Formats: sequence, C-alpha cells, structure tokens
Amino acid sequence: MSISTCIFDAYGTLFDVGAAAREAAKENTALADAWPGLAADWRRKQLEYSWLRAVAGTYCDFWQLTQDGLDWAMEAAGLSDAALRQRLLDLYWELQAYPEVPEMLEALAGAGKATGILSNGSPKMLDAAVTSAGIGDLLDATLSVESVGIFKPAASVYDLVGQHFRCTPSEVLFVSSNGWDAAHAAAYGFETVWVNREGLPMDRLPGAPAHVVSDLTAISGLAL
Ligand code: LAC
Repeated sequence: MSISTCIFDAYGTLFDVGAAAREAAKENTALADAWPGLAADWRRKQLEYSWLRAVAGTYCDFWQLTQDGLDWAMEAAGLSDAALRQRLLDLYWELQAYPEVPEMLEALAGAGKATGILSNGSPKMLDAAVTSAGIGDLLDATLSVESVGIFKPAASVYDLVGQHFRCTPSEVLFVSSNGWDAAHAAAYGFETVWVNREGLPMDRLPGAPAHVVSDLTAISGLAL
C-alpha cells in the first residue's frame, strides 16, 4: 500500500525541545554548564509523568506535565529562581523547528501527501509551536491526545490518525524521534520512521521501525 499521509510527533521530532534551556543559558550564567542536564531531566520527567499518569488513570494536560517536569529538574539542579522558571516555560511555547522541517514539509505537499502532527501536547501548546515555527500552512491537521484523554503510546491516540484522515495504518508514514513512540507506532501498523539524532540504541519494546534516519531530510523520499 502506498503512503498517503505523513504524521509527525511534535516535541523532539519537529521541534527542538533542547532549545528552551539552550536559549535561556545565553541569558543566565547559572545555566552555562547546567543546561544540557537540565534539558534532559526536564524532558525525561515530562515523559515519565505522562506514562505514569496514563497507567494510573490520572490524566492532566501536557502543559501541567511540562511544568511538573521542569520543577523536578530545577530542584535536582539546585536551581530555585522563579524568573528563570518562567523564562524557560515561555521559551517552550516558541521552540524552534529543526532547520530541515519547512523544506521537507513543502516536498511532501508537492508530492500530494497529507501531513499532520500527532502529539501529547495540548492544542494550545501545539498551535503556539506551529505558529512560532511558521509551518502552519504546511500541515493539514494538528491532532492532540487531549481529545482522547490519555497519552502515547495508547492505541486510542494512534487511532486519531485514521479517524481524521480516513486512511488505514499501512497508508501512514509515522515519524518520531522517540524510540518508544516509533516502536509502538510500528506495532500499531504504521510504516514508521525513527529519527535517531543521538545515535541511541533501539528500545526493547514491541514493534520495530521500518526506517531509522539521523534527521528529517530523507523523509520525503521515504513517503514516495
Ligand atoms: C509528543 C511528545 C511525545 O509530541 O514528543 O507527543
């Protein structure tokens, strides 16, 4: 079955989640050496909280998890600075897209593929990131887990793609930088691409991505 629809994870895949701490470090010497660890802890806790809340049935929106993850990470780094916390959160609303994103989305549109985001992010967070990156015109839909009230990798989240685009899983090229998301999306039945920018080992989970790439430049070729 040929690919009709290309779906992207948002945070870490289209948008550089490390950018908030990296940008804040240019303004605040307390982050000069600490920002990579802070960014990694922030992201790890944000995701752990999403999985734990999914298992426990205590869903709350991804913006709350993003704040909770940052609070844990700042405390772990010995940082207690309300202005810095606010600055980091503000920067999360205007994350940069990876540089190859606009050209890749243009190539997909030129090839007649439908494109969209499927993300844990709340609709407001995603709208802000898409607008800030200037890619709104290049996406056909932005789908948020908020409509099903659980986080990835619940199958009901992946179901949103077929419900919106009226396509089967095998027509979907699903692209994620999160190994666990790529594994579960592959098990779900999407043709899946894992964007492994950091050269990490593959997650030991059900499902394996059909493709592994180091950035997004090859995506339009994989969708043809
Ligand atoms: C997302 C997170 C998992 O955008 O990166 O859904």
